[in-house]
Amino acid sequence: MSEQKQGDAAETGRACPIDPDRRDFLSRTAFWVTTGTLTFAAIGVARMPKPGVMPGRSADLKLGPPGNFPVSPDPVRIGARNLFILHDENGFAAISAVCTHLGCIVAATGDGFACPCHGSRFGPDGRVTQGPAGSPLPWFRMSLAPDGQIVVHTDKMVPTGTRFQLG
Ligand code: FES
Repeated sequence: MSEQKQGDAAETGRACPIDPDRRDFLSRTAFWVTTGTLTFAAIGVARMPKPGVMPGRSADLKLGPPGNFPVSPDPVRIGARNLFILHDENGFAAISAVCTHLGCIVAATGDGFACPCHGSRFGPDGRVTQGPAGSPLPWFRMSLAPDGQIVVHTDKMVPTGTRFQLG
């Protein structure tokens, strides 16, 4: 034991069981491990709220003549803009394909929509039937352009169930 260590032990009346050099090394190691862990955790938290997939651009989307969408119980996926177009006996509807949980793209299942990311399920009208999503798939306003094409206004939402009728 060095003279310094013997002096410390003599002042306190007891011998320190840990070598001061080793104690300094452990303190520095603990500091840097903690700092590194907190830094990586902060980066992870900062990235978390962002959805994995962002919704399409907010703009009007022309989809061609109404005849492109024959009456069917199955919605048609417009992949380029993350939409489903539904045309049934009640009229047309444009339903977002972007999951309201964290933004994954839902798939049509025949009896609604299912999200592959965390298991949310939506009914045929986009209402939540199983979480974790907390809100329904948005419906967008539709209209007929002067040139006769169906237009979806992806920046204007309408209440669930709102149908667009031709003429
Ligand atoms: S993103 Fe769809 S359930 Fe999480």
